[in-house]
Order: sequence, then structure tokens, then C-alpha cells
Amino acid sequence: KKRIAVMTSGGDSPGMSGAVRAVVRQTIASGCTSFAIYEGYQGLVDGGDMIKEMSWEDVRGWLSEGGTLIGTARCAAFRERWGRLKAADNMVEKGIDALVICGGDGSLTGADKFREEWPGLMNELVTSGRRKPEEVLPYRHLNIVGLVGSIDNDLSSTDATIGCYSSLQRICQSIDFIDATAFSHQRAFVVEVMGRHCGWLALMAGVSCGADFIFIPENPPSENWEEEMCSIIRRHREMGKRKTIVIVAEGAHDRQLNHIKPDMVKDLLSNRIGLDTRVTTLGHVQRGGPPCAYDRMLSTLQGVEAVKAVLEATPDTPSPVICIVENKIVRRDLVKAVELTQNVARMIEAKRFEEAMKGRDAEFEEYWHAFNITTATDKSDMLLP
Ligand code: F6P
Repeated sequence: KKRIAVMTSGGDSPGMSGAVRAVVRQTIASGCTSFAIYEGYQGLVDGGDMIKEMSWEDVRGWLSEGGTLIGTARCAAFRERWGRLKAADNMVEKGIDALVICGGDGSLTGADKFREEWPGLMNELVTSGRRKPEEVLPYRHLNIVGLVGSIDNDLSSTDATIGCYSSLQRICQSIDFIDATAFSHQRAFVVEVMGRHCGWLALMAGVSCGADFIFIPENPPSENWEEEMCSIIRRHREMGKRKTIVIVAEGAHDRQLNHIKPDMVKDLLSNRIGLDTRVTTLGHVQRGGPPCAYDRMLSTLQGVEAVKAVLEATPDTPSPVICIVENKIVRRDLVKAVELTQNVARMIEAKRFEEAMKGRDAEFEEYWHAFNITTATDKSDMLLP
């Protein structure tokens, strides 16, 4: 019977606790032993009390909790060989032979490297005298399964990451609140949203809130963007709009990759159009808080699937990442998913923006088009040909 550990890593996201709950319960339901590793890779390196056997009751009430109740951390030691050797030793100590990791692409890549290195680590535990050969014998292979937890929705191969819809919901609520005060004073607001290098949150918030203009890294505005933005917003005002909302993704830049900062946009709206303008940085408000219904379902379905993937794995199966594609929970090759994600980053760096738009799984072009249609006050407002 397998001994399966679950951990969360990288930035927390709403739904991570639900994923842990599902993994723990499906593990126990499958007759296996469940462990949680606290504080991400740091807990794996530290071992001892940081690796805790979990019971059914331990995760009661976790489904609706925000963040991750087993903690997460950025861990320098795990990037070093000695740190991974210590982590491997701790796993042998607890008899753990499978690891489910819920995190972003960096955390998942780290996990797969660990799996690759595993036989070498076992060997080193023996040659260094830390373990007897018979102690490591049952642990010749390590199963790794990834779950994608991130508010950014930046991993290729899946339509949604655990947490992205909760975050989008919080952004929409916040913009609704801002709308009321903006309307009252006829003000403009520049709202900065998270997403790191991915514009999913900004684009979807633009569509969902009917923003006047958005900036995302995958589709930077034209060379003449300052005038273009001002003329669109001027026209919206002439049509009778009392408020203006511009959404800036934190990773936004122009076509030369110069960072577009919310303050730059604010100055333009104030100085060129004369709008009383404020900047709101939503920050970590959009990352914390309870998961929405979708993330509760996604984390539960995917947590269950992760344990099934562990139980069905053979030594030759590449590490899977649990995805959702067209509303179906599916397994994809973890390494390939990370590679595809990094390809999009490279397209942006190389200023191949059209390809970057196509490279994002979530039909960015369709959403971009819909945004432009719905926000336009007439045909000439549309940013697409
Ligand atoms: O990846 C999630 C995320 O919230 C990004 O959107 C953001 O760029 C980053 O993490 C912020 O990280 P930190 O909380 O370490 O400042």
C-alpha cells in the first residue's frame, strides 16, 4: 500500500486547502497512508514534525478555507543538491513513495527534477553511509503528480488553475466597489491586477467588468498607445460615461517591452483628458480569501484524480499534471506543460505577440475580441482590425 504525501508550494491560491483535503481523503479511501508536508519544500528538507500523517478528520472544514492550511514557502535549500538529498532521506524515513504537489510551474518543475534525480539520491544515501541498501530498496521510484495551484492561470495545457476564478471574482467585486465611487465623482481609476507575466486576470476582468481599456503582456498596445487610449476614453466620456476603468496587468509593457506602470496611465488620463484619476493596486486581496464554488469543485475533482494517477503510475509513466480541458479532468505530461508555458514567455520576450496570444490556452484572442466589441462605443473603437 502506498504512502502518499501532499504539499503546497509557491504562491498560495484559493482552493489549495481543498486540494489537500481531497488528496488526503482519496488516499485514505484507497487504503493508503496519507501525509501532509508543511511549509512546502522547506518542510520536506526539514523533515520531522513538518511531515505529518493525516487522518480523515484532520482536513475537516478545509474546503472553504482560503490560502493553504499546510503553509507554503520559497525554499533555497531544495535548489541545492544537499537539500534534495536531505528531503529524500526524510521521505525514506517516513516511508513515503509518492508526492502530490500543488503549485505553479516553478514548483512543478522542481518536483519533476527531484523525481529524475531520485535513483541517484537513493544511491548517495547508501554510499554516504546514511542508509543501508535494504532501507532504500523499496524506494527505487518516486511518483510525482502535479496539481496546478495559482491565481495567475498561466500554465499551458489546462483551461484553469486552482484559484484563478476566485481571484477573478475578487477582482470583479473590487471593481464593482470602485465603480460606485468612480461614478459618483465622475472619476477615472487605474486598477492594477496580479498575474505575474500572464494577462489572464486582467483580460478576464476587462471582459467581466466592462473596462474602458486594458493592458496585458501578451498583446501590448500599439506604438501610439497613449493617444489611442486617450481618444477611446474621451469618446466614452462624450457618449455620456461618468466613470472610467483602466485595468493594468502587473506584467504589462509596451511593444518595446518597457514596463507600463499604473502611474504613467494615471498621468495621461489626468493631464491629457483632465480626468480626476486615482490608482488602486488590488495586491494580495485578490489572492487571499475563500475559494469560489468553481475552485472548490476543481480542487476536489483534481485532488481525487491526482491520487488515482499515483496509483496507476508505472516506473515509465512520465510525471503527470492534472488539468481541466473543456470541462474534463485530464492528465497531461508535466514536463511538456511547463515547456509550453515557458515557450509563451519566450514568445513575449522575442516580441512575437501574436504567437503569444495563440500560445495561451484560454482562447485569449476570442476574449480580446469580445472585450473590444463590448467596450466599443462604435466600430472605430475596436482595437483589432
Ligand atoms: O503567482 C501568484 C502571484 O500572486 C503573482 O500574481 C504575483 O506576481 C506574485 O505571486 C506575488 O508574489 P509575492 O506574494 O511573493 O509578492
